Amino acid sequence: MLVPMRAILETADRGNYAQGAFNVNAVAQAKAAIEVHEMFRSPAILQGADLANGFMGGRTDFANATLEDKKRGAKRIADAVRKFGETSPIPIALHLDHGKNLDSCIAAIEGGYTSVMIDGSALPFEENVALTREVVRYAHPLGVTVEGELGVLAGVEDHIFSETSTYTNPLKAIEFFKKTGCDALAISYGTCHGANKGRDTKIRREIAIAIKESMRHEGIDGFLVSHGSSTVPQYIVREINAMGGKIENAHGIPIEQLIDVSHCGISKINVDTDIRLAVTRNMKELFRDNPSLRESSSIGEIYRLLEANLTAFDPRVFFPPIMDTVTTGNIPDADVGSIIDCVERGVKEVIGTLIVQFGSYGKAPEVERVSLEQMAARYREKGI
Ligand code: G3H
Ligand code: 13P
Ligand code: ZN
Repeated sequence: MLVPMRAILETADRGNYAQGAFNVNAVAQAKAAIEVHEMFRSPAILQGADLANGFMGGRTDFANATLEDKKRGAKRIADAVRKFGETSPIPIALHLDHGKNLDSCIAAIEGGYTSVMIDGSALPFEENVALTREVVRYAHPLGVTVEGELGVLAGVEDHIFSETSTYTNPLKAIEFFKKTGCDALAISYGTCHGANKGRDTKIRREIAIAIKESMRHEGIDGFLVSHGSSTVPQYIVREINAMGGKIENAHGIPIEQLIDVSHCGISKINVDTDIRLAVTRNMKELFRDNPSLRESSSIGEIYRLLEANLTAFDPRVFFPPIMDTVTTGNIPDADVGSIIDCVERGVKEVIGTLIVQFGSYGKAPEVERVSLEQMAARYREKGI
């Protein structure tokens, strides 16, 4: 069943564990993500980033996606999540990741997303508040959850506090929750996006603790989110590089630190990079072990893209030859089927591991099955 993300985060907060939130960029990824959560009886948060919606709208040059592309893509992702998730025994939220503006959020909600992030973190505080507030005003009457962001995700060298720190100021975080009425807040406390997070990242857990503690004192019923939290499994990086890849300086957040913050007020942990790495490794392995597929008329071009982009690990770089399958889930022949198998196994390997480590396994029955309409009524009663 699809639920607003808030219902899943309430359960994580109550149970003092973190819910992983996993990015998807293709129908097959949504399917595999739902299946592995079902296997572990875990609630699921699937997220489509703003650009992922553009890609799913058919734009292989997704950085240039228009609003129309994003609308089309958001609907395709949402249709896939509904197809595989509507009758699923687990609660599933579909969340827009790093929404750029109100239009992106509206496109996602109209497509069928049950939660949106508005990322105003690059704006001055008051402008970020105003933008986030605008999205809350649009989303809450529809029962849709809203995540904001405050603070800029740190550069790898920025592991100590300084006056110019871009870490989230706990006092400002409280003000942000109060002024916007958002449900969840992405904070900057030492993590960063991508595969190059630095060799010895040290999360400033005290920032999460300070914000969460202050929220309790102030009666703020919201949740904290850890972005840029891939662990960048070294075994996968080694495997890619052993097959000719050039993934250099790749380091993630140590899993022990993520487990630690999951008990310090972080309720949602975002992971994308790890999935990208696993899927890329699987595709390289497929062509290594099945040389005849390099000449395949349907997927041979994927092999050439893998060989031409040795530093890349975003599967969207390699998927253009199979865009119809990416966006619809249709599998025209066995060769394309073997690529989709790589995608599904990669998604399941990474998500399965993290469901167990973050502690969301077995929690699906604890999540309240609340509809968007019911959630809208609650916001109305509370006046947010
Ligand atoms: O946090 C960013 C996610 O990894 C999404 O990446 O904007 O390239 O789709 P994207
Ligand atoms: P990673 O790049 O660490 O996977 O972060 C993903 C993320 O924060 C998505 O919003
Ligand atoms: Zn992020």
